[in-house]
Amino acid sequence: MSGEIRKRKAEHLELAGGGSVEPASGPGWDDVELVHEALPEAAAEEVDLAVELLGHRLELPLVIAGMTGGHPGAAELNAALGRAAQRHGCAVGVGSQRAALADPSLEPTYAALREAAPDAFVIANIGAAQLIPQGARPPLGPDEVARLIAMVDADALAVHLNFLEEAVQPEGDRAVRGCAEAIAALAAGLAVPLIVKETGAGMHEGTARRLLALGADALDVGGAGGTSFALVERLRAERQGDARGVLLGSLLADWGIPTAVAVASCSRAGLPVIATGGVRNGLDAAKALALGATAVGVARPLLLAAQAGADGPSRWIEDFALELRTVLMLTGCRRPGDLAERPRVLAGRVGRWVEALERQPAEAAR
Ligand SMILES: Cc1cc2nc3c(=O)[nH]c(=O)nc-3n(C[C@H](O)[C@H](O)[C@H](O)COP(=O)(O)O)c2cc1C
Repeated sequence: MSGEIRKRKAEHLELAGGGSVEPASGPGWDDVELVHEALPEAAAEEVDLAVELLGHRLELPLVIAGMTGGHPGAAELNAALGRAAQRHGCAVGVGSQRAALADPSLEPTYAALREAAPDAFVIANIGAAQLIPQGARPPLGPDEVARLIAMVDADALAVHLNFLEEAVQPEGDRAVRGCAEAIAALAAGLAVPLIVKETGAGMHEGTARRLLALGADALDVGGAGGTSFALVERLRAERQGDARGVLLGSLLADWGIPTAVAVASCSRAGLPVIATGGVRNGLDAAKALALGATAVGVARPLLLAAQAGADGPSRWIEDFALELRTVLMLTGCRRPGDLAERPRVLAGRVGRWVEALERQPAEAAR
């Protein structure tokens, strides 16, 4: 099994690093307008970008979203992402660690990230689909979860919900029953905070409230409009001549709750929200913060930056910080948290989604 996972993880990097994996519909930032403040309170260089996430101070509201590990090329990428996180004081995640549980010789491809980022807020990663039985394969037990946290000396564990991807993926794990109970059992015995994250189809307030009740400490909304795993898996299905994956990947390329909508909706549940999915610059991030996010997550742009050169992720983050600082100044803010108190206008598709979801009780929105 570990050989299959290894190959898939390498293909994900290759395909996401190419083109055509982001849906035309977009994450919704164009429909979110921030309102200019003609009389600002702090110059851009006086803006303090630091935020607190799960009891840790981040020097800027950025999580380098988990992407990889488990194949030979992954160590270099994880080390580059770790170096950037260490330098800028942001959080950083590894990709799914299932491969290293199956084959411990792959552990260094994940541990490379922590070695490069001894002081950063590091997030371990596993799929919710691995917490329940999948055919004859038993679910992961508490000892295995403890192992993957220790592997990167993690400050938090992200459990990813990727049922769209599993549905399209030729060899996907299709069972779903018992996931909620498994998340609750995991949360009850976990030594670090639990982040539940979607990976590109988003979440709404009803799900956010259920996850809060199950014991999640934070949510990463993983909304639609950035990297689409329906599109990534469709490309893999095409290569394998898997007609089923091509059919579903084409149909569902645009499926999901746009990230801007997911942030606005989930922020009402009372958990810290990380806004991932199509965040491409500091202006997108400012819009996510205005909608209630504590921090944003970025994956594919940092993969592309790392492919362009070892220093790429660090340079990308420098530009991002400059953009965010400038927008905070222009909206009359001194720190990221101020944005949630500033006026904003929701138009078009996002305005309609947010209005419709807010009219329904959270439970009915299930
Ligand atoms: C190559 C690649 C691999 C990924 N692997 C994982 C993973 O193993 N676990 C996970 O939780 N998310 C994974 N993701 C999803 C990202 O964390 C993120 O939610 C998603 O890419 C949306 O962000 P983006 O639009 O900035 O790319 C992966 C993303 C990419 C691009």
